[in-house]
Amino acid sequence: ENIKLNIEKTLDFIAKDKLASYEEKVRACMETLEKGTGLGNDFLGWLHLPSSITKEHLADLKAAAQTLRENCEVVVVAGIGGSYLGARAVIEALSDSFAWLKEKKAGNPTIIFAGHNISEDYLYELTTFLKDKKFGVINISKSGTTTETALAFRLLKKQCEEQRGKETARKVIVAVTDAKKGAARTTADKEGYTSFIIPDNVGGRFSVLTPVGLLPIAVAGYDIEKLVAGACEMEKVCANGNLHENPSALYAATRNELYREGKKIEILVNFHPKLHYFMEWWKQLFGESEGKDHKGIYPSSVDFTTDLHSMGQWIQQGERSIFETVVSIETPNHELHFPSDEENLDGLNFLAGKRIDEVNKMAELGTQLAHVDGGVPNLHVSVPTLNEYYLGELIYFFEKACGISGYLLEVNPFNQPGVEAYKKNMFALLNKPGYEKESEAIQARLKK
Ligand code: PA5
Repeated sequence: ENIKLNIEKTLDFIAKDKLASYEEKVRACMETLEKGTGLGNDFLGWLHLPSSITKEHLADLKAAAQTLRENCEVVVVAGIGGSYLGARAVIEALSDSFAWLKEKKAGNPTIIFAGHNISEDYLYELTTFLKDKKFGVINISKSGTTTETALAFRLLKKQCEEQRGKETARKVIVAVTDAKKGAARTTADKEGYTSFIIPDNVGGRFSVLTPVGLLPIAVAGYDIEKLVAGACEMEKVCANGNLHENPSALYAATRNELYREGKKIEILVNFHPKLHYFMEWWKQLFGESEGKDHKGIYPSSVDFTTDLHSMGQWIQQGERSIFETVVSIETPNHELHFPSDEENLDGLNFLAGKRIDEVNKMAELGTQLAHVDGGVPNLHVSVPTLNEYYLGELIYFFEKACGISGYLLEVNPFNQPGVEAYKKNMFALLNKPGYEKESEAIQARLKK
């Protein structure tokens, strides 16, 4: 059994023969990916990454994870964007919703994320929280120079050395970075940290199945072998040249056709809040890959039923420029039945004896029908259950779809030139050495 895509509820919005016309185009995009003849072809390392991961590599990651698990109550994962969201997506999807309130123990450390903002309050509160903790750090940065991550890492490194001594700090700080370049590599080599390499040909948002995601996920206690096995299975399934037998290709084709029909916004939907960060990961994957050359579907997300009580109004009756993709979990991991109540003051006895998930599923079905009636095409991705294996399947399914979809849109899905603009201004404003001319220009502009 695998994850399944159902596009039936989009067909009223797409002209009949339109999808068929994608057969050839999608095959061509897949061939371009395979042959490496398209735009951004130096970043195709993700394409056959799952099947190329060796047992030895996983064993090395698990050994490093074990050292952190044995020696830390808390592990801070420092990273941003592609060096952050994949690990968080998987860890939060698999974690107990209240894990962060439970006691912190060495042996099964709590994972905390940092280096993904520059908030003084966040960093103050984090460093204060860590004061009496045996903590370790995973410093993740491909370039090794990203400001948000480097800033947090300097604070954390100092604190770790002061609290735990230089020698222990060296044992509980691990780097995931480029093989040769960047400050994170220089520091790791100088300090003798255990380190893992991010392959040159895997871009940040496609890197969750490299040590960027695998190491933190293993430290959190989850099975990285199963995650990779799920991705491997999808690598096989999504190699199929037949549009209707390849969920990645079908998803890519359907969303591109909806976009052509004026559906400019895609909303990824979940009915389990644990998937919140999975949606964040997906938003980066598609937003950074397709939003360029003044084109691209705007990827957004909602947590239902929570957001049905806020964004639900807009989705039902606002501008008809949206479509939804629901990530639906068939069977939850736990069972809870709704109790009967003699007095029935709340009038809910009609639900007595039902599983909570049955109520959730009826909310899901009711929402799908209402939104389709309201003019919102609906794609449905069915996931048998929430575990490492199916998260691996979902990850690869969306990555492959993103590669195909970007080529259908005729953009380079593997670069992100637009993210440099804010950095340039920020460095100029902070008088970073090397930015003297930009500093002068920006100051003059602000004085006007
Ligand atoms: O996808 C991307 O390339 C970005 O989101 C990067 O992952 C992010 O900017 C972090 O970069 P780095 O890993 O170099 O610190």
